[in-house]
Amino acid sequence: MKFKRYVIWSLLVISLAVFLAACNSEGEETSSTDGEENTDSGENAEEATEDEQVTIVYARGVDTTPATDAVIKAFEEAHPNIKVEQREMPADTGQSHDQYVTTFSSQSTEIDVFNADVIWPAEFAQANYALELDRFIEKDGIDMDSYFPGTVAAGKFNGRQWAMPQFTDAGVFYYRTDIVEEPPKTWDELISQAQELQGQEGTEFGYLMQAAQYEGLITNAIEYIASYGGQVVDESNNVVVDSPETVKAIEKMQEVVGSDFVPDNILNFMETETENAWIEGKAVFARNWPYLMSSSNDEERSSIVDNVEMAMLPAGDEGSASALGGWMTMINRYSEHPEEAWEFVKFISGPEGQKISAVEGARAPTIAELYEDPEVQDVSSLFANPEFREVLQSAVPRPVTPIYPEISDIMQIELSKALTGEQSAADAAANMQEKMEAAMAE
Ligand code: GLC
Repeated sequence: MKFKRYVIWSLLVISLAVFLAACNSEGEETSSTDGEENTDSGENAEEATEDEQVTIVYARGVDTTPATDAVIKAFEEAHPNIKVEQREMPADTGQSHDQYVTTFSSQSTEIDVFNADVIWPAEFAQANYALELDRFIEKDGIDMDSYFPGTVAAGKFNGRQWAMPQFTDAGVFYYRTDIVEEPPKTWDELISQAQELQGQEGTEFGYLMQAAQYEGLITNAIEYIASYGGQVVDESNNVVVDSPETVKAIEKMQEVVGSDFVPDNILNFMETETENAWIEGKAVFARNWPYLMSSSNDEERSSIVDNVEMAMLPAGDEGSASALGGWMTMINRYSEHPEEAWEFVKFISGPEGQKISAVEGARAPTIAELYEDPEVQDVSSLFANPEFREVLQSAVPRPVTPIYPEISDIMQIELSKALTGEQSAADAAANMQEKMEAAMAE
């Protein structure tokens, strides 16, 4: 199988130190014990003295793995004066997004640190929800070159860094090693193997994917589209989704979704439904993100421990393609504890935090060096495979724009109509083209 070679982005001008010293300190009392200047690190900056206990609130989506708890435990041990309280947001990234928008647009101080989907930083930076991180990065000499360039770029907007890469996601293919001899290399092979193998070892389904009308549908669709050589937007952000390649890809998706080897209610499937059915041993194949490997081998929850492997997604005419996902860490612009918030962001996005997430949660690190670590390589053969690092770095991004929520809504609606049979693949492609062009032109 061939993979696109990854083109290294030369990010030459990334570390212009932007010190916004002493702005915004109108009337605020800020006590600092370490002799550092007061900086504009939040509207109500309040720095803790060495001994003072500070509790920061960390909001993140549902984590079904032990990773988040383990990272927080390690952080609190290393920082006895900072306590991290978790706030759980919905598993559906779109719902989380809307809750954050409500919270941050009212300048609420209740959340200090939060996980952001890779598709949010541009929008959140533009809306002034986030604290800009360059001065912290500069102060602590964080080596941004140690991260995969694409993940750093996802946290940048207007030349500044608003989010730190925490882990990266790329769509991967799961198969049952107790049923499958050789995983399918193409979508057509998947279709025939899924038909043939479903029912073995007590399975009910051949394949599971995410076909509900929500953000995950876009990532699944992008994988089909790119695997047939189509694109949603081109390198210059022109909408190019209405192409024969895209039409063919949507038709293949319709074929899979309409088959009798997926659950009848596949159009309600998100990651959680996929995960639950998968770890109950109900399917031969599944598409999900790397974390499912951790759940698959969780002795307490899974009935298929040690019977699962990850592989590249099946290929279309053009090859195999994974959608780029992943999560960043950001600080609420109005956090009352920006310094402590940064300490946590630094830890969770740094080598120690990312290693814990990889080992405890099978989250793919964004720091290239961690893939050399034997404990990380032990998580799955894919993490040990240098080709997978290329897949991660050449994963296909969703359009990068502050109006991404609008773009996503258009795609969700048109793709869903194609999957429910309300419109043809060709109409879906044409409608996406027209509506996205109009939205981008505004
Ligand atoms: C995963 C990805 C994220 C994506 C979401 C879609 O959480 O990391 O980028 O938006 O799935 O459901």
